[in-house]
Amino acid sequence: MTIRWALLGPGRHANWFVAPQMKKATDTELAAVVSRDRARGKAFAEKYGIPAVYTSVDEALNDRTIDAIYDATPDGLHVPHILAAAAAGKHILVEKPLAMSVRECVDAIAACRKHGVKLGVVFNQRHEAVHQEARRMVSEGAIGEVKLVHVPIPLRALLPRPAPGSSWRADPAMRYGGIAVSIGDHAHDTLAYIVGQQVEEVSIFTDATRDEPPDDQVCGMILKLSQGAIGYAAASFATPFARRPFEIHGTKGTLVIENSFAYLSGGGPEATPSLTLVNEAGSNTRPMPASECFRLEVEQFNRAIAGDGEPTTPAADGLRILAIGAALYSAMQNRRVTRVADFLPPLP
Ligand SMILES: NC(=O)c1ccc[n+]([C@@H]2O[C@H](COP(=O)([O-])OP(=O)(O)OC[C@H]3O[C@@H](n4cnc5c(N)ncnc54)[C@H](OP(=O)(O)O)[C@@H]3O)[C@@H](O)[C@H]2O)c1
Repeated sequence: MTIRWALLGPGRHANWFVAPQMKKATDTELAAVVSRDRARGKAFAEKYGIPAVYTSVDEALNDRTIDAIYDATPDGLHVPHILAAAAAGKHILVEKPLAMSVRECVDAIAACRKHGVKLGVVFNQRHEAVHQEARRMVSEGAIGEVKLVHVPIPLRALLPRPAPGSSWRADPAMRYGGIAVSIGDHAHDTLAYIVGQQVEEVSIFTDATRDEPPDDQVCGMILKLSQGAIGYAAASFATPFARRPFEIHGTKGTLVIENSFAYLSGGGPEATPSLTLVNEAGSNTRPMPASECFRLEVEQFNRAIAGDGEPTTPAADGLRILAIGAALYSAMQNRRVTRVADFLPPLP
């Protein structure tokens, strides 16, 4: 069963990762692109061999041949697009964050349930082969009981705070938040996914110069996980030479992932992850190729549409990640350890 997709937002992310990988995905036809600017949409469509160009989301939603929407527009547009897609009976896979708040995320989930469409959010790192293998090893007890996890994600490029009016990233109505929620979410989500535990309590330090909206560029967070493990996650827009060693320490061994989050590396030797198991027997390192995470994400979403399983990151997980973000910013503003459950509303 081939799923016909319309891609919203032919920007940087869509151009670097989403469109090239969607073109390789099985059971996938990239059938339309939506750009506010026809010439830009046409150039993108020509580059990727996309037959239809629309200049409004409504046009794509009115196209009866479209089954699913991939939303790669700015954060603040995700929920309006989800609500419109649901009403039009289209399945929708949304770039992270799923919403700007837990409240509007609940509304989006309710709308998709009401209209019987699938909703997923892209946490691509769950697909990375090295993360999948670490998750498998942890669940099979290869390192015993997980006690401590350390995951840093410094970006390779220096990204200064965007000047007001320079882009949607400088607009609090369009951008969900600073580094803690825009990159730190990859860190704590991947950590929780690999160890198979939920983040339950958080504390955080950042370099934010204001509380509302936070403009953090560097953050370090300490996380209490549901089976007692302690996580330390960090993210940075300001330290381009920092490395990304991801360490998972258990009672019987340690896993070290080098060059994790390979797609952030910009290529070169740092783009090749490896997985090392350290235990009584010594140390064993295996290089693992970087994965086409966005292709895998779309393929899993296609299967979910066809009735075979759920999106890799279902909407309920997207809601939980937003609740962790809300707890982190509350912890930052109030300078205290904060429970995620206090920010997690019940689903209707
Ligand atoms: N999963 C990941 O690791 C990852 C990585 C990067 C980004 N993302 C997410 O992907 C989304 C897009 O990020 P990006 O870096 O690709 O941004 P971007 O380069 O600015 O592209 C966004 C595109 O959305 C379209 N758009 C529609 N309405 C817009 C508006 N009112 N203002 C600005 N653009 C508008 C624009 O295309 P037209 O002008 O042609 O309409 C623009 O090119 C964000 O939600 C971001 O968080 C996720």
